[in-house]
Amino acid sequence: MSILVTGGAGYIGSHTVLSLLEQGYEVVVFDNLSNSYEESLRRVEKITGRKVKFYQADMCDPEAMEKIFSENPDITSVIHFAGLKAVAVSVSQPIEYYKNNIGGTLTLVETMKKHGVKNIIFSSSATVYGAADELPITERSPKGVCTNPYGWTKWMIEQILTDVQTANPDWNVILLRYFNPVGAHQSGLIGEDPQGVPNNLTPYIAQVAVGRRPYLNVNGNDYNTPDGTGVRDYIHVVDLADGHIKALQKMDSMTGGVKIYNLGTGKGSSVFDVLHAFERACGRELPYVIAPRRPGDCDANYADPSLAEKELGWKAKYDLDDMCRDAWNWQQKNPYGYKGKD
Ligand code: NAD
Ligand code: UFG
Repeated sequence: MSILVTGGAGYIGSHTVLSLLEQGYEVVVFDNLSNSYEESLRRVEKITGRKVKFYQADMCDPEAMEKIFSENPDITSVIHFAGLKAVAVSVSQPIEYYKNNIGGTLTLVETMKKHGVKNIIFSSSATVYGAADELPITERSPKGVCTNPYGWTKWMIEQILTDVQTANPDWNVILLRYFNPVGAHQSGLIGEDPQGVPNNLTPYIAQVAVGRRPYLNVNGNDYNTPDGTGVRDYIHVVDLADGHIKALQKMDSMTGGVKIYNLGTGKGSSVFDVLHAFERACGRELPYVIAPRRPGDCDANYADPSLAEKELGWKAKYDLDDMCRDAWNWQQKNPYGYKGKD
């Protein structure tokens, strides 16, 4: 019995592959390395002392998908991380985003069906809720209006997988809606390695702390939040990886159906809360300037994660200081990420 991890060389994928190996699962990984390095998996092997079976393959390529499933008939479940995720790029390149994320998922699912693989866990996002009317956000909150094509790909893939399950009632589908994944494995050997200028808050702060960027742009200080900066629910990537293990275990008792879980801590933190936690981690003050709001950003969002606790037995263990400590440890040990230079 093997678990196929798509996009497994990426940030969340590599941490999940590590957790799977630590839990004794057999794992097959594929990734086209468009936003990652195979080095992440070499490091996972170093930490776990186990080999990772890796294919450099594109999920949009039906022949490559066929090869992976036919060479690994013991695949029973798929954890589906592969996808493009840069919100701003998705606005300027919608065709590429729809083609890759949706087209690729259709090819993957078609190949699963052909090979009788009926279990899939999908990396969705809190972005599918749009601007939520009520906080915290529960799974019963309606899906909303997304503000960019990336968000719509998550919204639509959730619907596609739900429709596939309706047509194939013995399929088990789990949609995991992540809030804001941050941090790194405690070893400092694997972590988030954005290409170019980071889009997200913690990698940007980490690059300021390590001297690659002069200051943080705080995007908006006039939001309707206690300190005026945007509030989000940051979740340690190691907790998130554990959520996937719990979801896999849940699938063992499912007899067909679709389950949806928020993976967050339930606690909102502002941009300044994150900046100050990072300052505690690296032991010095970090420069910032107040910059304009980013288009499409909301004031605040945070999860009600109680359903995942009740049904998966999963609860986040790490707090914001842990997340920043581990992100800083990774950044310090790998100032230029996996490739070692700019
Ligand atoms: P990532 O970019 O590090 O990982 C995604 C991986 O998918 C990359 O390694 C990339 O090379 C690979 N990939 C992309 N297109 C592919 C294709 N056509 N074929 C094969 N591989 C392909 O991103 P991540 O942060 O690890 O995110 C993993 C998943 O979680 C993504 O689907 C993302 O949208 C989702 N997600 C991420 C966040 C976040 O803030 N990081 C939040 C919510 C949801
Ligand atoms: N921010 C800054 N400066 C920066 C970067 C971000 O002030 O340089 C602020 C943002 O305005 C926001 C907060 O920091 O208030 C968090 O921003 P991120 O970009 O880190 O995260 P988002 O909440 O915007 O986006 C994340 C994921 C998306 C996902 C979305 C909703 O990156 O993939 O959550 O789930 F779609």
